[in-house]
Amino acid sequence: MSPVTFVPTTPEWLADPFPSYRELREQDPVHWSEALGLWVLTRYEDVSLVLKDERFSAANRPPQRRLNRPTTMVTADPPDHGRLRKSVRYRFSLSAVNALRPRIQEIIDQLIEAAQPATEVDLVSQLAKPLPRTIMLELLGVPDPELVQAKIRSTPPASKAEPKKPKGIPLAPGTAMPGESFFQEAIEQHREELEDDLIGVLLEAETGHRLTPEEVLDTAVILYGAGQETTAKMIAGAFYHLLSNPAQLEKLRRDPSLIESATEELLRFDAPAQAITRRAMDDISIGEQTIRKGEKALCILAAADRDPEVFSDPEALNIVRDPNPHLAFGTGIHACLGATLARAEIQTVISTILARFPRIELATDDITWEGSFIIRGLASLPVVLR
Ligand code: HEM
Repeated sequence: MSPVTFVPTTPEWLADPFPSYRELREQDPVHWSEALGLWVLTRYEDVSLVLKDERFSAANRPPQRRLNRPTTMVTADPPDHGRLRKSVRYRFSLSAVNALRPRIQEIIDQLIEAAQPATEVDLVSQLAKPLPRTIMLELLGVPDPELVQAKIRSTPPASKAEPKKPKGIPLAPGTAMPGESFFQEAIEQHREELEDDLIGVLLEAETGHRLTPEEVLDTAVILYGAGQETTAKMIAGAFYHLLSNPAQLEKLRRDPSLIESATEELLRFDAPAQAITRRAMDDISIGEQTIRKGEKALCILAAADRDPEVFSDPEALNIVRDPNPHLAFGTGIHACLGATLARAEIQTVISTILARFPRIELATDDITWEGSFIIRGLASLPVVLR
């Protein structure tokens, strides 16, 4: 009988899951959850071993329903995984992301250009969401019709040049997630006129018989989904934790060159992808327990990233932490394809806002967290920019 229970479903848990992660890690680090029907892993060493061990499969693993499409790299095992990832990998390399940095800056500048000091804004809907959404749609080759509408507006909108005409079905304003038909339409239009964007790259792979038409569609959908929600939640959470730790925020303001190490620490401290699942393809011993063939393991990245065996004073936000081998982007063959891009977005948005506004204040103490033990983040973040 386990000394602890894991009930990751209450609003209190969602607001602060870290005490429950600590309890599990200290008292039952390889925990069988009857309610979830899986093993819950919270030690850094166990989590990273499972993610690197190819005897654990990434296939068929609810509850990541939206990512659980049949033909994407996210739920593929070797050799298919390598083939699917290879088709787009180079588009997310360091040099590709560095080339994109000016555009990231431009989008952020555009989003905040109308913001006036002493204005209340919601950093989630007005900044954290539109930035990665626009970037991912542009990379795919489907420019975002919502960018202009999403701007932080504290004054009447200035008249702007028309945004580039999007390919595909126009999204209704406020549509959170374009559906499959949106991307299908965009792919069909790209077939008529091949362009140098992600959909173009996917279609080239289809022509070379490296991807099927279904894989082209699913990869476009999954890239959009994976690149958007996590980054938006990370940006909002990063601001919240900086505002909640004024000494750390002040340190970063005094020395903006700390932005890279601050970003790594914010990722370690509280990243949106809290946990990922794997399925054992053999009987495998982890610590004192044996995970039987067919059983699932929930690897809690957010718990591993506060393991005192690896991180000193793990519950404290320390923007100069070094080394910082966090698992916010996972590890092993499925490690986040978009990590470099996400880092560039987070770094640029924090640096820009801090440089532009000498003071930022939370506009309310009533902060709501949404999501689940898989993806967790802020529903909104009202702040006053001064
Ligand atoms: C802060 C933002 C982000 C976080 C915290 C994050 C987190 C993660 C994690 C933990 C994984 C591993 C999943 C697993 O092992 O099952 C992953 C995989 C992945 N991420 Fe991200 N991600 C972020 C941003 C992005 C962006 C911007 C993209 C852009 C396309 C992206 C695309 C992907 C893809 C395609 C995979 C699957 C890789 C594979 O299975 O080989 N992510 N991400």
